[in-house]
Amino acid sequence: MPHATDPSVTSPHVLPLHKAVPRLVKDPVTELARMGVEARGKVVRLDLGPFRPYLISHPDHVQQVLKTDWTNFVREGMFWRPVQRVTGRSILGEGDGWASARKILQPLFTARYTASLAEDMADIIHGCMAELDGYARAGRPIDGGHQMTSIVNQAVIKVLFGGRISREVAERLQPEFATCATSIAFRLLVPFAPYSIKVPGDRAFLRSAKKIDEIVYPLIEQARRERPHSNEVVSALIAARLEQEGEVDLKQVRDDLVSIYGAASETTAMSLTWLWSVLHDHPEVNARLQDEIAGVVGGGPVRPAHMERLPYLRMVLQELLRVHPSAWIIPRQTVADTEIGGVRIKAGSQVLVSPYTTHRLPEFWERPLEFDPERWADERSARRHRYAFIPFGAGPHVCLGQALFYVEAPLVIANVLSRYRQVLTNPQPLTPVPGASVRPKEKLLLRLEPRR
Ligand code: HEM
Repeated sequence: MPHATDPSVTSPHVLPLHKAVPRLVKDPVTELARMGVEARGKVVRLDLGPFRPYLISHPDHVQQVLKTDWTNFVREGMFWRPVQRVTGRSILGEGDGWASARKILQPLFTARYTASLAEDMADIIHGCMAELDGYARAGRPIDGGHQMTSIVNQAVIKVLFGGRISREVAERLQPEFATCATSIAFRLLVPFAPYSIKVPGDRAFLRSAKKIDEIVYPLIEQARRERPHSNEVVSALIAARLEQEGEVDLKQVRDDLVSIYGAASETTAMSLTWLWSVLHDHPEVNARLQDEIAGVVGGGPVRPAHMERLPYLRMVLQELLRVHPSAWIIPRQTVADTEIGGVRIKAGSQVLVSPYTTHRLPEFWERPLEFDPERWADERSARRHRYAFIPFGAGPHVCLGQALFYVEAPLVIANVLSRYRQVLTNPQPLTPVPGASVRPKEKLLLRLEPRR
């Protein structure tokens, strides 16, 4: 470990309060990325008064934080506290609670198990088109963000609870989860605000968390009493806990379910929301995607078997995750003093890995601000630094739901594009708003014109 006079120790690129704050207030997501890009991927220290986190974007540094030295960068501290208030000791935590949840959940989210959920998911997503048909027939535009959130919520709730949850209960659960996800925005943005005082969103958050429990606990109790219904996650979780631990702690199952829901829904819904603006801005991408889907799906219902015959859709999704990674920062807290890229970092510091910045570094991406699905077409993508593309994180905490995402998102897109020609009725530059996922501040209003 180098000491104070060691010439190998470099200072971080520091952005002082008077410069950092005005830039960050207006458009924090874009500005944070600009700071990282200006520093050419070097460690940046943000001086935000009481809060002085380090911004990490160079793929080598990402690798160190998330993979090689991951035990020294934990999911604790001011960013994780608001999340863990609802997810408990679970897969979204750290330590023993996380390790046991990961061991139980990993087999549930393999590509094979996910494939077994795909047919059900295709049915649910197909069922959601009835509501869109209503808008299309009436010539009324849909609110893209709202509809994507609703479709993804219905799909995720069904994967978690299968036939145990009625449509009516699922519809009551969905807005409560949505409120929990959005009402922690203030705590994430002002992470040093003490919990002894109520901040905007707290009341709504606690109310929704309570309602979630009132719905979820009886479903878990019921699943414990009965034999498994097909392959829904709640039964699989109970069976796995029984097998590995000999007993089922209901609170633990609740924490796992709520965590999976939280990790799965907003991230996917927000990625899908950005897509409609991207397709408006890139009519050539839109046309090629429409053609590919029409050629494979035709006029019939979209089935999971179609997905492997839609390579361009996969390229568009990869590029979407690069330009609009919904998990825009991955926060960590250091356990012991350490060093990243020659910069000394003290124990207890906040470190923000920023996929949004990493994906925009010109040192690793040609024309980084351009949306170009072609960059995923050839072996260029294989030659890229492994940690230059991190929409799902990396290392031991890497996203468990990647396979599910690549089933669900293409099903939604193929359903919409095979039925309608979509027209954005209020095109405008979008401002990314930070929260648990990054969402556009402006509404996206889409008119859906039915295809013959
Ligand atoms: C666009 C969609 C998604 C994105 C961008 C995304 C992103 C991420 C990222 C960046 C992490 C790492 C967090 C960290 O290191 O602290 C993560 C973890 C996780 N994701 Fe996803 N995710 C997505 C969809 C899903 C889905 C559909 C599921 C459903 C099962 C899921 C379940 C999880 C879980 C359980 C973890 C925690 C893993 C662990 O810590 O061991 N995610 N996700």
